[in-house]
Amino acid sequence: MYNNIFDSHAHYTDKAFNDDRENMLGSLKESGICGVINCGADLESSKEALKLAETYDYLYFACGIHPEEVENLPENYIEILKDLAKHEKCVAIGEIGLDYYWRQDTKEKQKEVFEKQILLAKELDLPIIVHDREAHGDTLEILKKHKPKGVLHCFSGSVETAKEVLKLGMYIGFGGALTFKNARKAVEVAEILPLEKLLLETDCPYMAPVPMRGKRNDSSLIPYVAEKIAEIKNTDAQRILDIATENTKLLFNI
Ligand code: NI
Repeated sequence: MYNNIFDSHAHYTDKAFNDDRENMLGSLKESGICGVINCGADLESSKEALKLAETYDYLYFACGIHPEEVENLPENYIEILKDLAKHEKCVAIGEIGLDYYWRQDTKEKQKEVFEKQILLAKELDLPIIVHDREAHGDTLEILKKHKPKGVLHCFSGSVETAKEVLKLGMYIGFGGALTFKNARKAVEVAEILPLEKLLLETDCPYMAPVPMRGKRNDSSLIPYVAEKIAEIKNTDAQRILDIATENTKLLFNI
């Protein structure tokens, strides 16, 4: 039985938890979970994440516009995010970034919304939680330009990209995808990643680790990811969990 588990990236506002959200969030502490950061994907889910953080002491939240949600934003969306981010349990602007896998047609708008939110994070002295899918070049270029604090979540880039991210002082988040059979690139990144730059996450309800792949994910499955990293780093999983929790608290000022 593991303890001191911090899930640095979850989506408990997702409709996949509509039937049992209260039971789930009421019982996670019994599975050794000490903290969870719920990430917004649009204004609505950011507001819902705030409400959950007010209900459960171990829940924190990030507010932000996900790259798949950049269309039809109200003109004052940055002002709305700024208000949400002033809440004492808001620990980051996220999740934000670029996704050229699902959306090739909104690239320019994605970049604009990403940059505006980075500037907001810097103004508020908050870290950012970055989503980068098939957009490593542009993501890196924007991060190099603004040099924010933060994490590249569910990291899917190469060792070369990881080294650039580390040079910027940013963290790398790993979740269930690291345990998948085809995760060769992510395993290579985990091999060179200094443990003081590691965060653990679920991205639940998605990305459940092996042996639960394809099922609904939740924070209690993080030990499978920790065990995989422990195997790569030749250490024990509780130590990985402890280090990642310490890193999460440091980055997000918790
Ligand atoms: Ni996410």
